Amino acid sequence: MRICYVVAMVAEAQPFIERYGIRKVEGFFAPLPCQLYEGEVNGVTLNVVLNGQQQGSDLVGCEAAAVATLSAIQQLHPDIVVNSGTCGAFREKGADIAEVYIGNGVMFHDRRVPGDDAWGTQSLGNYPVWEGSQALAEALGMKMGKVTTGSSLDMQPCDLEMIQKHGGELKDMEGAAVGFVCSLFKTPILYVKSVTDLCDSGAETFEEFSRNLHRACETLKTANEQVIDYLTKRVNW
Ligand code: ADE
Repeated sequence: MRICYVVAMVAEAQPFIERYGIRKVEGFFAPLPCQLYEGEVNGVTLNVVLNGQQQGSDLVGCEAAAVATLSAIQQLHPDIVVNSGTCGAFREKGADIAEVYIGNGVMFHDRRVPGDDAWGTQSLGNYPVWEGSQALAEALGMKMGKVTTGSSLDMQPCDLEMIQKHGGELKDMEGAAVGFVCSLFKTPILYVKSVTDLCDSGAETFEEFSRNLHRACETLKTANEQVIDYLTKRVNW
C-alpha cells in the first residue's frame, strides 16, 4: 500500500515530513521541479510530493500541481493521493482560522466558459473525491466542505458568484488540478485542507494568509497524523 501526498508549499508539508522523519529522494523527478520524499508508517509507504520551487519560492497553482500529480501517479502508482494544504473559507459558512476540513467535492471557480452544455460543464471540473472521504471525516470528527480552485489568491466578484452558485466552501489554488489528473487515472483523491484566511472577513487576503500560515500548518499536521493513522490501519485497499 502506498499513500502519496501532493502538497504545494514547503510550510504546509514540513511539519509532517519532520514528524515522520521521511527523507528526500534527490533528483527523482528531474528535470521537473517537483520533489519526492519517502518513508514508511505502520508498514505502508508514505510519499510526499512537493510541487517544487522556482526563483526561491514555492510553485503554487494548478500547473505545478498537475505536473506533480501526473509524475507521482505515473512513477509511484499510489493507492490513494491526498492533496493537503491551506485554503480560504467563509465565516458565514461557520469556518474559523486553522480549522481542518475534508473535501466532499472539487471544482474550478475561475473558468468562465458560457453555456450549460459540455464546454461549460467540463470547464468546471466537479471531479470525484475518494468514496471513503465521508467515513473518514466522520470517524475523525472533521468537517467537510466543497473545494473550489482558482489561479489567484484574491477573490474577484465573479469568483464569489461562482463559489456561491456551486456551494463552494474551501477556496484553494491546486485542488481541482490534482483532482483532474486523479480522475484520468481513476486514482482515489482525498482532500485535507486547513483554513488560513476567511474570504468574507474584510481583511487583506495575503496579510491574513501570512499571519495565520504557521498556525494553520500546525493543525494540518495534527489532522494528517490522524488521517495517516486512519488510512494505514484501514484494511481492504
Ligand atoms: N490558500 C490559502 N488561502 C487561499 C485563498 N484565500 N485563496 C486561494 N488559495 C488559498
